[in-house]
Amino acid sequence: MSSAISTPRGEAEDLPLEPSLFRRTCARFATGITVVTVADESGQPHGMTVNSFSSVSLDPPLVLVSIDLRNAILAHFTEDSCFAINILAETQEHLSRQFSGPVRGRFQDVAWNPGLGGAPLLAGVLAQLQCRVDKQFPAGDHVLLIGEVQHARYCEGKPLVYFNSKYGQLG
Ligand SMILES: Cc1cc2nc3c(=O)[nH]c(=O)nc-3n(C[C@H](O)[C@H](O)[C@H](O)COP(=O)(O)O)c2cc1C
Repeated sequence: MSSAISTPRGEAEDLPLEPSLFRRTCARFATGITVVTVADESGQPHGMTVNSFSSVSLDPPLVLVSIDLRNAILAHFTEDSCFAINILAETQEHLSRQFSGPVRGRFQDVAWNPGLGGAPLLAGVLAQLQCRVDKQFPAGDHVLLIGEVQHARYCEGKPLVYFNSKYGQLG
């Protein structure tokens, strides 16, 4: 497989599609940041930072996140698990870092309430979707997790933004 990239003079130059080129190219797509949360069978909270969130369908209301097969959180999803998608506000970069860092202590000093199925609803976020697992599809080294939205809420405010592997804010 190959790819084209524009040189400074604007000519297209063919390059092999190396993983780093693929990653850097996809990083030019600006996203928000979410923390996806779930409770395990004993009610323990789990969460991880995710920017692969996308809305999929209005009727029924479906959303999608793509989770790396290596991520420990996948073990806590069953066929009918509930999970929450917490969309971070511009002041919550620390939560994105905390929930992509060491698993131990991810919920330390984090205010949250249990939502549907016990999935943690983080305090102070910009928006929240509570979902029930609809389908899970293997896709390469990831799993596409489709959720049917059961509850949605949002606040006024601005999102935390991720672009070119850096955090930012809307101007
Ligand atoms: C900004 C950002 C976005 C991320 N988005 C995703 C994502 O969409 N899917 C994914 O599997 N991992 C994503 N990650 C990486 C996971 O957060 C990280 O691998 C995970 O928290 C590791 O958890 P584990 O140790 O419980 O397996 C992202 C990390 C960051 C910093």
